[in-house]
Amino acid sequence: MIEFPKEFIWGTATSSYQIEGAHDIDGKGPSIWDAFCSIPGKVFNGDDGNIACDHYHRMEEDVALMRQMGLKAYRFSISWPRIMPTGRNQINQKGIHFYNRLIDELLKNNIEPWITLYHWDLPLALQFEEDGWLGESIADAFGKYAEVCFTHFGDRVKNWITINEAWVVAMLGYGQGVFAPGRRSNSEPYLAGHNLLRAHAEAVHVYREKFQPTQKGRIGITNNCDWREPLTESAADKLAAQRALEFFLAWFADPVYKGVYPDVMVERLGDRLPTFTPEEAEKLKGSSDFFGLNHYTTMLASDAQGQVMEGNVYGNGGLSEDQEVNLSVDPAWSLTEMQWAIVPWGCRKLLQWISERYDKPEIIITENGCAFDDKIVGDTVTDQPRIDFFRGYLTEIHKAIEKGVNVGGYFMWSFMDNFEWASGYCKRFGLHYVDYRTLQRTPKDSAKWMSSVVRDNGF
Ligand code: GAL
Repeated sequence: MIEFPKEFIWGTATSSYQIEGAHDIDGKGPSIWDAFCSIPGKVFNGDDGNIACDHYHRMEEDVALMRQMGLKAYRFSISWPRIMPTGRNQINQKGIHFYNRLIDELLKNNIEPWITLYHWDLPLALQFEEDGWLGESIADAFGKYAEVCFTHFGDRVKNWITINEAWVVAMLGYGQGVFAPGRRSNSEPYLAGHNLLRAHAEAVHVYREKFQPTQKGRIGITNNCDWREPLTESAADKLAAQRALEFFLAWFADPVYKGVYPDVMVERLGDRLPTFTPEEAEKLKGSSDFFGLNHYTTMLASDAQGQVMEGNVYGNGGLSEDQEVNLSVDPAWSLTEMQWAIVPWGCRKLLQWISERYDKPEIIITENGCAFDDKIVGDTVTDQPRIDFFRGYLTEIHKAIEKGVNVGGYFMWSFMDNFEWASGYCKRFGLHYVDYRTLQRTPKDSAKWMSSVVRDNGF
């Protein structure tokens, strides 16, 4: 049996739009995801998060499930338009009340709350009025919203994540247009990414100036990254893999740790990549108390030599051309229902890459998991493939720790099946834990397995 450090944090994660439902009650304002889902053809099957897992109404029951699983930590996000219906000024007390009840319920059950301030449900008013993440004013609005959260919840919440996956917001929301707000461009992602970073820095600044000295919590950002393995041993493919990682993760992590964008992006993007003012760079540098990482899969990278493949999974034309990298998977790798390859060693290599590039930060894996077409037998979901997945990834994470990488925690995605963005509640993705029509919560074997891992590690 492998043992993790005593203080290792074991948890699960969710996000507001994916589980809460209650999209238009108790004073909540609309978000860009409410609007996006209402556009025909944007979300598989015309699904939306109007009800989702109805967590807003069934919160106590859900926390009881977490307790049964033996969880020590729970990462959830706050819906900005639930507590600030137009994104600014006016505060919705009923929204504040909901999160206060959730936080209290978690603490009562000895579960540490980890709050994400932004997991993609931007108040729609800010999209209309300020151009969403393309508008310069968004950083200030985000700082003020963050301040409302620190003021109301910071007495009990000690772990804050500013932004979830800026890469996804920028690339899928403004590059490929497959996520809200659905824009397609080869320059807007870099502007959106820039403002996401400015907003992150602003929230951290507010926390450090006004709250951290007394509340004594920590704050950071969560970025996502897959591993990129060179397709061949050639120097060109090795460089391509490195370039792909820099365009993916260093795009957001270099500014946070070093105050600058990676050289390779500066060189290749020219004036499509905005620049930070000296004050912004100063605010950004060192703006994360931990390295939040969401990791799901690995792909092979090769040098495109001017021939970027059409339909490259992770780029629209323009953006993959910027990197000149072609991506593929090894046909021997097995895939999850999301068509993501299961490559546990890729996780270890990525952890080592981060540790070297950013000088051994504490890495918290804030998401890792998989979707399968689970089978329900009796009243449980028998999901051996998911148990194997977790075993594989946790084993490699443990190896990384043995090699000196500082990994402080692991949150499995997700606490329960939920609204999977543009894929909706697609059966193909194995969403059985919650049947959102009957709202039945069905325990999974992997959840039981996870509880035993937590227990065996001395908790
Ligand atoms: C992440 C995202 C989650 C969830 C997950 C995979 O990119 O943060 O909200 O959708 O992917 O299913």
